[in-house]
Amino acid sequence: MEKLMISGGRPLQGTITISGAKNSAIALIPAALLAESEVVLDNLPLLSDVAVYAEILENLGASVSWHELDNQMRIDPSSVRSIPMPNGPVKKLRASYYMMGALLGRFGEATIGLPGGCNFEPRPIDQHIKGFEALGATVTNEHGSIHLYAKELRGAKIYLDVASVGATINIMLAAARAKGHTIIENAAKEPEIIDVATLLNAMGASIKGAGTETIRIEGVSEMHGCRHSIIPDRIQAGTYMIAAAATRGDVLIDNVIPKHLEAVTAKLLEMGVHVDELDEGIRVLGKASYNHVDVKALTYPGFATDLQSPMTSLLTQAQGVSVLSDFVYSSRFKHVPELARMGAKIKVEGRSAIIEGGELNAAKVKAMDLRAGAALVIAGLTVGEGVTEVSGVEFIDRGYDHLVDNLRNLGANVWRETLETPTL
Ligand code: EPU
Repeated sequence: MEKLMISGGRPLQGTITISGAKNSAIALIPAALLAESEVVLDNLPLLSDVAVYAEILENLGASVSWHELDNQMRIDPSSVRSIPMPNGPVKKLRASYYMMGALLGRFGEATIGLPGGCNFEPRPIDQHIKGFEALGATVTNEHGSIHLYAKELRGAKIYLDVASVGATINIMLAAARAKGHTIIENAAKEPEIIDVATLLNAMGASIKGAGTETIRIEGVSEMHGCRHSIIPDRIQAGTYMIAAAATRGDVLIDNVIPKHLEAVTAKLLEMGVHVDELDEGIRVLGKASYNHVDVKALTYPGFATDLQSPMTSLLTQAQGVSVLSDFVYSSRFKHVPELARMGAKIKVEGRSAIIEGGELNAAKVKAMDLRAGAALVIAGLTVGEGVTEVSGVEFIDRGYDHLVDNLRNLGANVWRETLETPTL
């Protein structure tokens, strides 16, 4: 186990190139199982979640070659079988729920242990199940594993009670090879959904409307391999934008789609940060003092819940009181007690954090989930005296490709150390 050591107080300066999106990658890899021949994914991020997914596919009989230096994965799913996976790597990853849609779509059957991952609050999958059942699958929970079976999947009209990213993608996966027409109403509109639909269409599927609240899928009987380049990671990009502002730096965040980051850009501008949108990049230039702002985390195109924790750290640097509310996850505030150890003045009331601006101090803190980890790193980067120690790095490695190298290239004094294990 490792911890991150941060001797902060230096403005981040320079250029960072953003890698492919984690939340696309971990849906695109299982989506490849629907094909009968090789799928090549380019711009793949180097993340522990991606490695876990490669292991899951190999366990099912896929041939997976991951060319890390080229950010490429080649997946040949021609020998895959739907082997029950009650335990093992599926338990490490929340997004292993995509194995349900992918295996159901290809084989009409799947058994998957209930997924693990970042448990910042209970994260139900009832809308995924509702979708599978509407397509004709029988879904049972057997000793902590979900078993799905359908003699034949048939298209259906499915209204999602919540615009869930996972449920929208999972239903697209299962419906892509179902018989007939599927309509998903109140679908989630996140860019990662468009990315998955783009891959599936390149594999021979017929999906229209991804990125809007109504997605129409005409099932096809066969799908084939293709080559696809993953969209840039808007959450990683947003995290570096926030870090640049928090350290009063000057950073060009390169290889992004600025439109995906409009909600962050708008809030930074409102705080008084200087932000320039370029064609495929965003330059963030910090200032000495910032206005307080209120932020509401919503589904896309609103402010992303995944940037809510990093934003909390930035708002400790604003003058006055800011209110940050999360309307996607009501209790995603595990970073707050840790930021309080660093001297932050934050109160959580219901689904809101009330943040009073002020200086932070170095402390030993623990990342309890991926984005909470990013928040603590940003907080540490703002502290000029002492060294902040962030444990729970394994969470951060799930979603931030080359974090230490990237921050060092931007001039930060950050390094990893082995965490001493207490002697009993
Ligand atoms: N929800 C339900 N029932 C369901 C599914 C979701 O009630 O069947 C609720 C959730 O409890 C939540 C809301 O709907 O309140 C939205 O959840 P969603 O299903 O959209 O989340 P997800 O698909 O499980 C993905 C990302 C998360 C990101 C959310 C929201 C992946 C693997 N994960 O999760 O990313 O926070 O969408 O944008 O794509 C992260 O990257 O740190 C992360 C947690």
